[in-house]
Amino acid sequence: MTEYNKPTAQISEFRVTKTLTPKVKPDGRDLGFGKHFTDHLFLVKFSKSEGWHQPEIIPYQDFHINPAASVFHYGQALFEGMKAFKYPNGEPILFRPEYNCDRLAAGAERLCMQAPPKKLMLSGIKQLVHLDQDWIPTEEGCALYIRPTLIGTEGFLGVRPSEEYFFYVILSPVGSYYGSQLKPIPIWIETTDLRAAPGGLGATKAGANYAASLRAAVQARKKGFSQVLWLDAEHQAIEEVGTMNVFFVIKDRLVTPALNGSILAGNTRDCVLALAKEWGWAVEERRITLNELVQASASGDLQECFGTGTAATISPVSLLESEHHRLFIGTENSLPALQIGPRAKKLYDELSGLQRGKIKDTRGWVVPV
Ligand SMILES: Cc1ncc(COP(=O)(O)O)c(C=O)c1O
Repeated sequence: MTEYNKPTAQISEFRVTKTLTPKVKPDGRDLGFGKHFTDHLFLVKFSKSEGWHQPEIIPYQDFHINPAASVFHYGQALFEGMKAFKYPNGEPILFRPEYNCDRLAAGAERLCMQAPPKKLMLSGIKQLVHLDQDWIPTEEGCALYIRPTLIGTEGFLGVRPSEEYFFYVILSPVGSYYGSQLKPIPIWIETTDLRAAPGGLGATKAGANYAASLRAAVQARKKGFSQVLWLDAEHQAIEEVGTMNVFFVIKDRLVTPALNGSILAGNTRDCVLALAKEWGWAVEERRITLNELVQASASGDLQECFGTGTAATISPVSLLESEHHRLFIGTENSLPALQIGPRAKKLYDELSGLQRGKIKDTRGWVVPV
């Protein structure tokens, strides 16, 4: 990444322009995911001559961007996904926001993009959430989804890193990602398309990864499956499930694929590993092959399977299926798991309890806005 050493805007320089036409807030019981946007957004721009400058909160609006911008042609686009919650006393909180800012900065390095300084990102996120805090839904399973985004905006068609960027943050009140949150979902094992490969962008939240994943997800949905289980480039080892990291309980051990450069290092994955270790569970981060899962399922040793991610927190899996396999989860091989398993439930209760202020935070994971 090019170092420009240009001045960076001071956080105190924030300009706030409030909307004159606040929107009607949607019904908290029917939010869906990513359909509604709050009244304001945070925007800060980078140019080679000015560095990061002009941070401001403005009414939610369309952008004016040069059609030759690198985001449109060469995919210089990165994003993050995090959530704000409301404590029972009405206080808005964020959950480990620095993890997401660090991940965006690491992704920017890989995509040769300029990322704003962490202090500026965090301050923009906090001030925006603070301003739009009345949009944080308090219904069961709901939250305010935060989407920080970094895009190359320079109007130039040569293939090289953009020299101008927008970093912006939008907010969306959301319901539970998969409908009824803790109902186990069936997953399609994808044996043709790949989400990512060694040396590629899989460890980043580059928009390009999601473009690569759409075809398999659409096909899986047509077959009645909620998400896709991604395999590695040899179609042998397990990587992730849809937009989540994946965990298995095999013979009472919690097992998840080791971060190998093509898997996204999830914030929730990191919490799950920390909690499981704290609780004294047997934990393994290692390569897991599809063959191993086939055998574990056949012998009844595949006790649980669940995805972890900001959108759903913990999402239990009932069945893993491909053209060649049908892997049931749980000790009963005859029926797909109909209920969330005990470990997934304990993790869900702890994480959602912390996020909603039902459990006191002792780890510094909860950050006031
Ligand atoms: C591909 C992918 N893997 C894993 C995750 C889970 O990451 P996190 O727990 O930080 O939300 C996400 C969602 O952000 C994702 O898009």
